[in-house]
Amino acid sequence: MGYSFLEPVKVGPHTLRNRITKSAMAEYICAGDGTVSDRYVEFYRTIAAGGASLVVPGIIPLVEPQDPPIFMGTFNPSLATDEAIGQLARVVDAVHGEGALIMFQIWHSGCYATPDGLKSMVDDFTTEELRALEGRFVDAARRAKAAGADGVEFHMAHTYLASQLLSPLFNHRTDEYGSDTIENATRFAKNVIERIDRELCDNTFTVIVKLQGSDCTTGGITADRAAEAAAILEKAGATMFTVNAGGALVGYQYMSDNGHRPEGWKVDFAAAVKERVSVPVATCGNIRHPDYMHELIRDGKADIIALGRELYADPEFPVKCATGREDELRYCVSCLYCFTPVPEDDSIPGCTVNPWCRSERAHPELVHDGDGRRVAIVGAGVSGLEAAVVLAGRGFAPTVFERSTHLGGLVDLAAKPPHKERLAWIIDYYERQLRRLGVEVRLGVEATPEVVSQINPYAVFVATGTNEVVPGRIPGIHGPNVVRVRDVLDRKVRFCDKRLAIIGGGMTGIETAHMLALGGNEVHVIEMLPEKPLGIADKLSFGDAFTDGVQIHYEHQLVLIDEGGIDVRDLASDTDVRMDCDAVILSMGIRADPAVIKAFEAAFERVVPVGDAAALGRIPTNIRSGADAAYALA
Ligand SMILES: Cc1cc2nc3c(=O)[nH]c(=O)nc-3n(C[C@H](O)[C@H](O)[C@H](O)COP(=O)(O)O)c2cc1C
Ligand code: SF4
Repeated sequence: MGYSFLEPVKVGPHTLRNRITKSAMAEYICAGDGTVSDRYVEFYRTIAAGGASLVVPGIIPLVEPQDPPIFMGTFNPSLATDEAIGQLARVVDAVHGEGALIMFQIWHSGCYATPDGLKSMVDDFTTEELRALEGRFVDAARRAKAAGADGVEFHMAHTYLASQLLSPLFNHRTDEYGSDTIENATRFAKNVIERIDRELCDNTFTVIVKLQGSDCTTGGITADRAAEAAAILEKAGATMFTVNAGGALVGYQYMSDNGHRPEGWKVDFAAAVKERVSVPVATCGNIRHPDYMHELIRDGKADIIALGRELYADPEFPVKCATGREDELRYCVSCLYCFTPVPEDDSIPGCTVNPWCRSERAHPELVHDGDGRRVAIVGAGVSGLEAAVVLAGRGFAPTVFERSTHLGGLVDLAAKPPHKERLAWIIDYYERQLRRLGVEVRLGVEATPEVVSQINPYAVFVATGTNEVVPGRIPGIHGPNVVRVRDVLDRKVRFCDKRLAIIGGGMTGIETAHMLALGGNEVHVIEMLPEKPLGIADKLSFGDAFTDGVQIHYEHQLVLIDEGGIDVRDLASDTDVRMDCDAVILSMGIRADPAVIKAFEAAFERVVPVGDAAALGRIPTNIRSGADAAYALA
């Protein structure tokens, strides 16, 4: 298909080879002191090789760490000193080598880091300090140019410094940088952009803006205000705007959607800016599908699509669209696992659906050496499916055996709670790949060693997953009012207007509780462990369960179940508490059955456990486990 987003577009002195840009994302994969790592270079090289026309690496601070501690975002590079030039030149060369442009995002958080999260400091700067900071932005741009970059992106979004200045919600200043007039509110940005334009821009270098299209909060930046600001900044020299919304101080869920909102819900913010400027405008946020992207540009809503997480999920998105390989696209499911820091050693993927995201150096070359050897894959959860795809790609002949009548294993259940529906896209991806690669799938088959031996496999991958933990010692645990969480998620058991107790406050327990609470039940979750603060990713993933009525009782242990409810022990006070309820739902963890692996090991020479059967994990680690094992099969 002749997608509109594959057409070139001019941005300042440059011609972008297509209209897909990489929206800036902090990768947190440099050294703690900001030294650019090989991993960082390889990450951006991969994005460029996948076909994006312009790569904008995430937030780069331009001041040294200070006291009190302003938020700097660790494990990212720095543009605070000239040392950055040689460091960032490595990334520039890697991206240019793949035919893409690169512009670094110059950024000041305008926030203090406190144990309770980020706090605005925009009212605390003196006028002189802000004037001096303008100079630091220009210095940073000068260093970016010296590193060979094609421009800089001035960060004026996500409630960081420049977007706070634009926002009446945060900016209560009474000096020339106040938010009382649009001229004052944009003065900082305008001064910086004008100076960069005057002092640095030429036929190799330009300045673009990441703009806050809305604070999504009463009293904050509106689409009209953003558009008004853009008109001023275009005159100052900005040659492109990428429009997003939300952010640290008003809600990350508006910046990077968590499955709650429809695809493209922020497009109107970009469209409002586009009406006021003549330079290209990129829409950004929660855009996933090529047909929809095509329409946005064709219908004049935006000139460019800035993809953030979609290029984590599939860095080859542009090239696949350009070469008719849409059936190979892997879609971002908005789970926000990518907010979780990834360790330095490449062993853990940085994205749920892409096992190599931010671990690109660990990605082995796909060697076509399978010679048609048959491999049995027992279990169609994501580890087994990923293994099947890699093995088929290597030229093995995998056969997937699955006891149930559908693919996906636990991911099928994980997609049932509210706002998790996109997880089903993971299964859809594997269905498409198995079809494309001609992998044989046998559903509804209990794959015993005898059954598997009929295909005479060269190797057997055991991806049989887990069973639910049911502690038999608890009185009443097998009673008629007790059900398992998987049966609830699978809608084999339904509740309405009931008082329910869920035993186990892990992610599955809470998400199930949320589903039941929205279904009109009163739900209490019993959790033995003490409360611990949720990380950003978990808060965004299931934090609204609590605002939607789920009640969680930490440090409470199940003692017994009878027909009227449960007795639990309050571990803090060591007293027993009675809790009446209509039904009890067990979500007490999962465990692999080693006997299954042993049975296959007794029957076959090469047995490879993957996914939860090998080590309990989450979707991303299970996918990676399947991939690693499939690449390693000798
Ligand atoms: C892990 C993570 C890091 C991000 N870091 C930045 C950043 O450094 N600078 C920025 O402008 N936006 C950042 N964003 C926002 C994205 O660039 C993008 O605007 C947002 O996620 C919406 O687009 P998407 O739905 O395509 O991801 C980040 C988002 C995520 C999930
Ligand atoms: S981790 Fe989740 S939200 Fe982040 S890019 Fe991957 S699929 Fe998307």
